[in-house]
Amino acid sequence: MSLQASSSISLSAKGSPANGGLAASKPSKILIGITGGVAAYKLCEVTSTLAKAGIEVRVMMTRQSQSFVSALTFAALSRHPVYTDDDFWSAKQARPLHIELGEWADVFVIAPLSANTLAKLAHGLADNLLTNTVLASTCPVLLAPAMNTDMWQQAAVQRNWQQLETCQLASRYHSVGPDVGRLACDRIGTGRMAEPSEIVTAIYSLSHTKGRRDLLGKHLLISGGTTQEYLDPVRFIGNPATGRMGIALAQAASHRGAEVTLVHGPLAGDLANTIPAPIRTIAVTAAADMESAMRSAQPSADWTIMSAAVADIRPTHSATYKLPKAELPTHLSLSPVPDIVAQLAQQKSPGQRIIGFAAQTGDIVTPALSKLKGKQLDAIVTNPIDKPDSGFGSANNQAVILLANGQQRRIDNGSKLSFAHQLYDCLATYCQ
Ligand code: C5P
Repeated sequence: MSLQASSSISLSAKGSPANGGLAASKPSKILIGITGGVAAYKLCEVTSTLAKAGIEVRVMMTRQSQSFVSALTFAALSRHPVYTDDDFWSAKQARPLHIELGEWADVFVIAPLSANTLAKLAHGLADNLLTNTVLASTCPVLLAPAMNTDMWQQAAVQRNWQQLETCQLASRYHSVGPDVGRLACDRIGTGRMAEPSEIVTAIYSLSHTKGRRDLLGKHLLISGGTTQEYLDPVRFIGNPATGRMGIALAQAASHRGAEVTLVHGPLAGDLANTIPAPIRTIAVTAAADMESAMRSAQPSADWTIMSAAVADIRPTHSATYKLPKAELPTHLSLSPVPDIVAQLAQQKSPGQRIIGFAAQTGDIVTPALSKLKGKQLDAIVTNPIDKPDSGFGSANNQAVILLANGQQRRIDNGSKLSFAHQLYDCLATYCQ
């Protein structure tokens, strides 16, 4: 690649460090390093997704990775020339390329991460552009390993991985995957690279946190989605909650280092596939199931976040068989379901925090304030469900956080992942 191309790296100042307030994170400068593995083709989707979102993306490729996907493809997808070792060793560089790129990047993604590059990182080796750039940068590095199961399980590979995991604690290295699934060798096992959407979500989280793992050591218990209260095996009372908010809360907490348990009602579409492996999930249907799952998990939780839209009522009588139309009641006898979050607040120990959600129409603050007090919560997140592009089923949300100490914080409309991070920024300050 020419000097002209490399000198087109923008050297504008890095984004300001994550603030403790509730501003949404600005898109960062993402550097993608591709090493030799068949999963390299999945980075086409990652690159394209980021570029289409208006994020600045630069791609560097090791020599081996170019046997799998051509640099030309990534140049087109990232809207920028791709960096290779030929550029690194070129005498035309005014300033060393690894320094230039290392300073430029806000997040450095290495995917697929091969066993060879993993070993080099673990030992601090630098024999190509990619490994030199790692050593010449200080930004968070996101690693997405991909290899055959036997390779992944080798003692030497595991030792190298654990070595980098120690650095995770220092916020330098972060990981996504490897997942369990079908591999290119047609075996099913561990070693499959995380899916593009999982990698993109982790990049967005790192863009917001700048690698901060401020929930490390905390256990977060989160509920999400709706509950369904069945009249018979086919008819139920429920609401349009999809589970997207609860999943975003779980993803963001996990990316910030928390141990996460997600208790969720029936999820819409293929949302279940977007829950990363480190998150423990408990699937429930009715409010009574959610109640028992939450009550048994809560004793070990530092923060409990009840984002589920629990159906407030259930049919008093339910049938185990499908009621014929002639047997359907013309009037339903209804009973209240237990108020789960109020019970959890009653049984909480000193130091535990209970945070509720309130889905409101019209004035979102006044009714939520009485729920905050009535249910004795530490905070309540009240969000409008009568505004376009937020709330139930939307990819976005907005809210006002009402804290038990009387303070209020607004979260402007944005993606549910960004919303979740802004909530944690607030809770990290006010709910210690
Ligand atoms: O339904 P409501 O607006 O009262 O919900 C406020 C909070 O209470 C939410 O966090 C919701 O998850 C929780 N809730 C509950 N059990 C119910 C109803 C609501 O835990 N039966």
